[in-house]
Amino acid sequence: MQTIAIYPGTFDPLTNGHLDLIARGAKIFDELVVAILRNEEKEPLFTVIDRVEMLTEETREYSNVRIATFDGLLVDFARELGAKAVLRGIRAISDYEYEFQMAMMNRRLAPELETIFMMPAEKYSYVSSRLVKQVVHLGGSVEGLVPPLVLQRLKARVAEV
Ligand code: PNS
Repeated sequence: MQTIAIYPGTFDPLTNGHLDLIARGAKIFDELVVAILRNEEKEPLFTVIDRVEMLTEETREYSNVRIATFDGLLVDFARELGAKAVLRGIRAISDYEYEFQMAMMNRRLAPELETIFMMPAEKYSYVSSRLVKQVVHLGGSVEGLVPPLVLQRLKARVAEV
């Protein structure tokens, strides 16, 4: 039987930390569905379409990874997919509290779904989409922290806004 996992997030934008986690997840699960939350409340820098495009391009090498979008409850989308696990990245201890709350709430809503935490490579342990956006907005370099395609799109997008 195929084990499907879902890797949900905002991915605004995709970072090398996310890609590192996707590579790890793709090795373990038969199928990994990277699921972008369609949440306009968060006022994202990139549209969902842009994010789908970047993720699709950057995960092309993995035959068992696919990109999807969802709204509503994550557990509902996971059930729709037949996913057994939710993959989440955990960096520092500071991530733990939020991740713990989400994992427990998701477990309450869908006891059959396991949340699996993985750690990205140490060199990405401080990288977040939020900081990447902030640094780019303020004119700093994020080279090496995001894929070249994202870097290019980030520069263009920040110049626009
Ligand atoms: O990349 P992020 O912003 O940390 O991802 C958060 C995400 C998308 C995983 C989370 O907000 C989510 O699952 N939202 C869907 C709504 C939901 O299911 N909420 C209840 C779970 S606590």
